[in-house]
Amino acid sequence: MISKETIDKIFSTARVEEVISDFINLKKSGSNYKGLSPFVDEKTPSFMVSPSKQIWKDFSSGKGGNVVTFIMEQEHYTYPEALRYLAKKYNIEIEEDSKELSDSQKELQLNKESLYQLSEVANEYFQNQLWKTEEGNTIGISYFRERSIRDDIIKQFQLGYSPKEWDSFTHFAYEKGYKKEILEQSGLSIFKEGSDKGFDRFRERVLFPIHSFSGRVLGFGGRILQNNAKTAKYVNSPESEIYHKSQVLYGLFHAKSFIIKEDNCYLVEGYMDVISLYQNGIKNVVASSGTSLTVEQIRLIKRLTNNITVLYDGDQAGIKASFRSIDMILEQEMNVKVLLFPDGEDPDSFARKHSADEIEAFFKENSKDFIQFKTDVLLKETNGDPIKKAGLIRDIVGSIALIKNLIQKEIYVKECSRILDISEQVLFSELAQLTQPNIHSRDRNTRKQVALKPVTTSQQEEIDFTYKIEEDILELMLSYGDHEILINYVEEEEPYKTTVIEEIVHRLKEDDLQFTVDFYNRIYLEIMEGIEKNQLRTGEYFVKSKEVDITEFAVGKLLKKYSISNNWELKEIYVPTLEQNLAKNTKDVILKYKAIRIAEMNKNLAKELSSGNISEERRLEIFNQIITLDKLLKQIHKLENRVI
Ligand code: CTP
Ligand code: MN
Repeated sequence: MISKETIDKIFSTARVEEVISDFINLKKSGSNYKGLSPFVDEKTPSFMVSPSKQIWKDFSSGKGGNVVTFIMEQEHYTYPEALRYLAKKYNIEIEEDSKELSDSQKELQLNKESLYQLSEVANEYFQNQLWKTEEGNTIGISYFRERSIRDDIIKQFQLGYSPKEWDSFTHFAYEKGYKKEILEQSGLSIFKEGSDKGFDRFRERVLFPIHSFSGRVLGFGGRILQNNAKTAKYVNSPESEIYHKSQVLYGLFHAKSFIIKEDNCYLVEGYMDVISLYQNGIKNVVASSGTSLTVEQIRLIKRLTNNITVLYDGDQAGIKASFRSIDMILEQEMNVKVLLFPDGEDPDSFARKHSADEIEAFFKENSKDFIQFKTDVLLKETNGDPIKKAGLIRDIVGSIALIKNLIQKEIYVKECSRILDISEQVLFSELAQLTQPNIHSRDRNTRKQVALKPVTTSQQEEIDFTYKIEEDILELMLSYGDHEILINYVEEEEPYKTTVIEEIVHRLKEDDLQFTVDFYNRIYLEIMEGIEKNQLRTGEYFVKSKEVDITEFAVGKLLKKYSISNNWELKEIYVPTLEQNLAKNTKDVILKYKAIRIAEMNKNLAKELSSGNISEERRLEIFNQIITLDKLLKQIHKLENRVI
């Protein structure tokens, strides 16, 4: 873990305009557009950088952030990877937070490093065995040739060969000074209990090294050479401290730049499928390597693209497994298509029979979106039976319900309605039973879309309103949170001096209120935590957040603040800003928010009352609560009217 001091140092040293200039052509701009001057990108003037705020914003994509998130975006790095990049650029020595590492954790680190090293050594060894020994040539290379894999591809994927001999690698590694423990952990050698005499896991097999996202060797898969089923077709490295097969995708290291370029990732099952397709021009391809697809694997892809096409050979078991994968991909808010191969073909055999152009054309023509795919498969099974068809609809709606983006959802409902010849209304109400309206997205467009839903209109407006006010409150805190205000709620009361953040947090805490929108509440909790540490966390604090969505939100608010005041100066027209009369705005928004939340509580209680099946005791309790809340509400309304 990179220490907090190092992170602070990186943020205070790295200059956003310098770092961005390494990637795009920035020039000074004369105008003071949106408070972002003086740098814009020459080619895309909608890309702006503010040296004084140390933030950037791309108005065409809506993305924005700080220097670290820029590198994350640009290089598809994780947060620590981006920090390391910047540390290198600015010659900042990285201090690991060793204070937090216990001795055993340190040992683990050391161990991990030596496991990486050993894997690297083994990888080289197996390649040498393939290319430089008689056995490797006659057995290994001829196997690859038989499967039409070109030499350059063998080299690029670092394929290797493990000799027949029982302990050739173990022996080699011992000579190099590797100890039994590490050899055993890596899974490269296997030891009988209590014995130091080890033998090789991989013998007389061609080897596929498995690389991490950044290209380090984590483990191996080894294939037998003849298809006689005396032993398993593949032997794989066992799980170790560096190899977690559920978190790795075969081929990803080689495919990643192509996945970005094509903005799509093909997902296959096997090592050979990846290599064959890659060799034949489809380079944006990875394999889950025999395990069923995991969330971690999907997230690896999501760092590069939002689009996955799952490739299947058409056997029944494969298809059912594909359904589960599809749902998991949808849950990660990604788009998923499915490509089914003709009978008896798999990606590898298909790739070998066709030219690159034919493959590409076939892929383009036959990739179906998941709705089409699922209905095609399931409709065949129903044979016109209406009960089965109802089950099918529920199944498909179940998948649609997983999609978080509401616009997407609506598109799929439309398509489903068309394909299955069912009214959208029916599908929507089916969907409504499966999902609560999703208010946890902060995408404005999505939000509007919710209101279009026939089932939710009035309820949704209310939620929208709460959502809006929560955003307003955060905007106040992020833009002007550290401003001092003099505040009193009624004239009779002496005004007291406080800050915007403190006032808001104090007033919400008073009634045990937190935000209802998850995303907003995450920010709010951090603000509260700040108060405990005597910090007023405003937008300037949050643009350095390590959570990209928070950074982006904070950048948006800061820009709004500066753009409003600039325009106002420019045109000399009066634009009331939040800044004018901050005290009043703060009071307003607090009272409004409380009123809404109370009304909402009241409504829920009333609903519970009308539901009928509650005890007499609970009924009384509810009445009392409603009366109290009503009183509170009246007080608030009174205050609201009196606020000047
Ligand atoms: N697999 C495995 N162990 C096995 C069989 C398969 O780990 N005994 C994994 C491998 O990662 C393999 C994938 O499942 O790549 C898909 O299996 P399969 O389609 O049988 O393998 P291919 O790679 O297509 O191998 P080939 O074409 O050489 O038969
Ligand atoms: Mn195969």
